[in-house]
Amino acid sequence: MGSILKTMLKAGFPARRFRYLMGDSANISTHMKLEEKLALYEVASRYIGEGKMLEVGSYLGASSVILAEVISKKSSAGRLYCVDTWQNDAMTEGKRPTLEQFESNTSRWSSSIEKVMGNSREVEIPDQGPFDLVFIDGDHSYEGAKSDAARFSGLVRTNGVLVFHDANRAEVARVVGEVLAEGTWIPVRHAASLVAIQRV
Ligand SMILES: C[S@@+](CC[C@H](N)C(=O)[O-])C[C@H]1O[C@@H](n2cnc3c(N)ncnc32)[C@H](O)[C@@H]1O
Repeated sequence: MGSILKTMLKAGFPARRFRYLMGDSANISTHMKLEEKLALYEVASRYIGEGKMLEVGSYLGASSVILAEVISKKSSAGRLYCVDTWQNDAMTEGKRPTLEQFESNTSRWSSSIEKVMGNSREVEIPDQGPFDLVFIDGDHSYEGAKSDAARFSGLVRTNGVLVFHDANRAEVARVVGEVLAEGTWIPVRHAASLVAIQRV
């Protein structure tokens, strides 16, 4: 294959595909890479069952709208629980309120999104699952990611998936390794720093 065509395929097609899937919401500000966003979309589409999902770390809604879009396409009764303080906690840019931007960015999907505002270590979750997919992208310290994995991995249904972002960070990678060491999960998808493991 010619190198120009190769470059076009690499640079152009994923971006166009994501824009086709998400429309204007493809541009919500996020630290997620395009290949991670596409992988999240694919994993959510593949493992959706009843359509119940939970996300820890929603920020401005970039990953939330991906999950909510999959839910709206595949399950009329589905629901996405978004857990965040909406105070930009544990982020390098420092604390700031982000709820208003989240609500504006996710307004198209507001009927299927339920906000759970508070610290993921202790906030009450209105639904104990089982969830088709749990996405962990909150506090990336070892203690934070460990607490989220310990608290929410048990809510994933058999054959459902637990997805981590920033799994290239040593602290998060350690947590992923510890969950895999339990022997009841297998890796099913990997894109840049995004890792999905399935409960078997
Ligand atoms: C990396 S951002 C999430 C990015 C988002 N998934 C996206 O698609 O752009 C991390 C988010 O986790 C939230 N957060 C950090 N620690 C938290 C905690 N202990 N409980 C709840 N939310 C937390 C922050 O407020 C921030 O919005």
